[in-house]
Amino acid sequence: MKIVARTLVGLEEVLAKEIKELGGEDVEIFNRAVEYKGDMRLLYASNLWLRTAIDVLLPLSKFTANNEEELYDKIQRINWSNYITSEKTFSIVPIVHSSYFNHSHYAALKVKDAIVDQLREKKGRRPNVNTENPDVKIMLRISENKCSVLLNSSGDSLFKRGYRTYGGAAPINEVLAAGIIALTGWDAKTPFVDPMCGSGTFVIEAAMKARNIAPSINRKEFGFMNWLDYREDIWNAIYKEAEYCIEENDVPIFGFDKSRQTVRIAEMNAESIPALKGTIQFEMKDFFKSSKPTDKGILVTNPPYEVRIKTNNIEMFYEFIGNTLKHKWVGYDAWIISSNMQALKRLGLSAKKKITLFNAQLESKLVYLPLYEGSKKAKKQQENQEV
Ligand SMILES: C[S@@+](CC[C@H](N)C(=O)[O-])C[C@H]1O[C@@H](n2cnc3c(N)ncnc32)[C@H](O)[C@@H]1O
Repeated sequence: MKIVARTLVGLEEVLAKEIKELGGEDVEIFNRAVEYKGDMRLLYASNLWLRTAIDVLLPLSKFTANNEEELYDKIQRINWSNYITSEKTFSIVPIVHSSYFNHSHYAALKVKDAIVDQLREKKGRRPNVNTENPDVKIMLRISENKCSVLLNSSGDSLFKRGYRTYGGAAPINEVLAAGIIALTGWDAKTPFVDPMCGSGTFVIEAAMKARNIAPSINRKEFGFMNWLDYREDIWNAIYKEAEYCIEENDVPIFGFDKSRQTVRIAEMNAESIPALKGTIQFEMKDFFKSSKPTDKGILVTNPPYEVRIKTNNIEMFYEFIGNTLKHKWVGYDAWIISSNMQALKRLGLSAKKKITLFNAQLESKLVYLPLYEGSKKAKKQQENQEV
């Protein structure tokens, strides 16, 4: 069967790689989505294992409709009693870009009517709609007159891993953090540091990857558990296998923050994943007054952007970051994500790579700053000599 995993802008390739590693076949990349083939087992495993998917969808039907009546008729052709009983609740999530359907809400209402009418006619009772916490989440996608209906097998978005009970002031999305770590190419052997770790998202995602812990190991609920064909035995086997797959890895992972309270929050989040015990070293440290914890390593961080966390002078703040990196973090590969382009320029370091990503709605750049010993020119010469 066909499966669709959705992701964030810029993470499509990373997600496709994860899907292939998990056993997905005929993997195809689209804008913010990856399609692949697999069985129900792979669909469950995708929810547990994909670090960069925001949800995993099961396509039910694809058709064209030029107006609401046609949409209603074609939705009625799907046998809804295979998916929803009158005891279950459901919701329709519309994504509509169409000159045929001007109001996404109205199109969703038509779909809801078609489902409810069919089930009432067949079963004598209708299921209720629950937009907050539905048992079955149905996605309606309309692009001009092309419609597709998909079941959301994840339920809540997969960035809700179930470990970040405590947020910092501006936590980064877990899926984005995992995607950034993948984009850096981190090998899970090199020391990893987030010197402004906030609620700990980067270091927790890094530690889970290093220890081969499934990203959703702490999640209790997934949409597919409410489906009529849910196979608890298959899910239990996949989950048990994930517990069995956890590996030892003593790669040093450090999370620092200047706020004592924030460090405690990060610690509590990490503690909520029992298998992570002892994997991350947290400490209260001011980045500007401390130095690197290991000789070489990778630094990944999102400093304040002046959006949710204010500094007195954001451009000066980034200038200090740049100076600190230059003088105290030589030997490291630094990766910084920020939506503040002016401030990024003040780092005063030339980026070897710049990748556009979105942190929530904010267009951001992930910049790669290798911190060479001596000048860049000397490093180049050294590299040339090494070849
Ligand atoms: C945007 S938040 C990081 C969010 C984090 N990635 C998360 O997922 O929660 C920036 C963090 O930088 C910290 N910070 C600001 N100035 C700092 C400094 N001089 N040294 C260390 N941490 C600092 C703040 O306390 C805040 O937690």
